[in-house]
Amino acid sequence: MPDPDEPKPESVSRRNFCAAIGLTACGMAAGGAGGVFVDFLRPRVLFEPPTAFSAGPPDAIAVGSVVTHVEQRVYVIRMAEGFRALSAVCTHLGCITRYQPDRNLIACPCHGSQYTLAGDVVAGPAPRPLRWLQMSLSEKGELIVDTAVEVPAGTTYRF
Ligand code: FES
Repeated sequence: MPDPDEPKPESVSRRNFCAAIGLTACGMAAGGAGGVFVDFLRPRVLFEPPTAFSAGPPDAIAVGSVVTHVEQRVYVIRMAEGFRALSAVCTHLGCITRYQPDRNLIACPCHGSQYTLAGDVVAGPAPRPLRWLQMSLSEKGELIVDTAVEVPAGTTYRF
């Protein structure tokens, strides 16, 4: 026979159990909605590296030389009449070209396109000349090339 003075084990009523389940479900739904809202407030921006880069001081590039900026895929060329910047991306299928000093040509290793130092196609399947890129001089006196800004072929910069 149970002792009437013995404490009763706590029992959970059906009503309290359903209320607890309901509150938990509401809390989870509110948390999910909050997460979606916070995600909605975050800007959908694709962070890309800057398109402009420093190619160093102009005096560091001798007249008649071609400097290849491999990472940026750009040639900076100094001729007697001034500087020019050419994209190193082949206009055929986008391979990266290489300057060949012995032939004074820019050549594509993929399908054999060849370009002059003015970017004109002299051989191979490339449909267009290499892109000429915008150059400027920074406040520190360094050459700046912007790979996102194309300029008309023949644009030469004197700094
Ligand atoms: S990608 Fe350069 S010739 Fe085809």
